[in-house]
Amino acid sequence: MAIKKLGVLGAGTMGAGIAQIGAEAGLQVVLVDIEQKFVDRGLKVITTNWDKAVAKGKITDKDVADYLGRLKTSTNNRDLQDCDLIIEAIIENIEIKKKVFKELGEMCSPATVLASNTSGFSITEIAVASGRPDKVVGMHFFNPVPVMKLVEVIPGAETTEETVAVAMETCRVIGKTAIRAKEAPGFIVNRLLVPYLNDAAHAYQEGVASVEDIDQAMKLGANMPIGPLALCDLVGIDVLLMVAEYFYQEFGDPKFRPALALKQKVRAGHLGIKTGKGFYDYTKK
Ligand code: 3HC
Repeated sequence: MAIKKLGVLGAGTMGAGIAQIGAEAGLQVVLVDIEQKFVDRGLKVITTNWDKAVAKGKITDKDVADYLGRLKTSTNNRDLQDCDLIIEAIIENIEIKKKVFKELGEMCSPATVLASNTSGFSITEIAVASGRPDKVVGMHFFNPVPVMKLVEVIPGAETTEETVAVAMETCRVIGKTAIRAKEAPGFIVNRLLVPYLNDAAHAYQEGVASVEDIDQAMKLGANMPIGPLALCDLVGIDVLLMVAEYFYQEFGDPKFRPALALKQKVRAGHLGIKTGKGFYDYTKK
């Protein structure tokens, strides 16, 4: 099935990025969030990216007008009901995701494929909640979505090959490389990346080196494009902590124990770039 209309639920960092590349790829996009202020914030991120691309001469004002013509926003989930594919990118909380998938399953056309951008929760568990588990698949994007080329595609226990094919084809249309992963906590990338980021937070906590030196060490010593603590700030420390806690609980292995430094940042409301402070202070830049 060729996707024409893409629904994106959640206008945060990931949802806005997905909506942006969908509109750029020629899809009709409906971006929905629970409050207008969240929709407005997501739209602002998207239009700022387009303004920068115009300034760099990569796209024209006419392109932006075309993209905007294809991008609708709403605060009502009902505006998603006739989409061919809906990608959920809401808060990383399994109970809230299940509630939302139940609602989408009841409300949407039977043909609609429902995808979750979960960072690592069980697709099967989310799919069962929808009442149409054959039509649910994981589509895991990476931050910043417009730049990162990968999407992990994860079938749940009852996902059909037809549903997987819709996810794979959509990745092709929006210019991403899809890799199929089995359902397991964190899939491929986060299974490897989150323990690394968590370990960097442990190292900082133990006083091994400063935030700056830990990051510099991994950039210069391991050729990482960005240091691990700066990456925590980019991903969102709250997201990272939720994933780390989920791994700890699912694997039951002490190596996944979330670093206190992550917990303290979250308790302080210092979630990274999105709140202006994390391991670094972005309010001073
Ligand atoms: N949105 C859109 N475009 C962005 C962007 C953003 N937030 N940040 C950077 N870009 C674009 C820039 O506009 C620039 O585009 P251009 O080449 O067309 O001019 C290009 O990316 C390079 O940007 P910069 O020169 O400003 O900076 P860098 O060279 O440092 O690159 C980076 C920025 C691509 C973010 C790089 O630092 C990087 O690769 N970081 C690692 C990112 C990463 O690992 N992401 C995965 C996180 S894990 C995840 O998301 C999963 C989740 O479940 C937790």
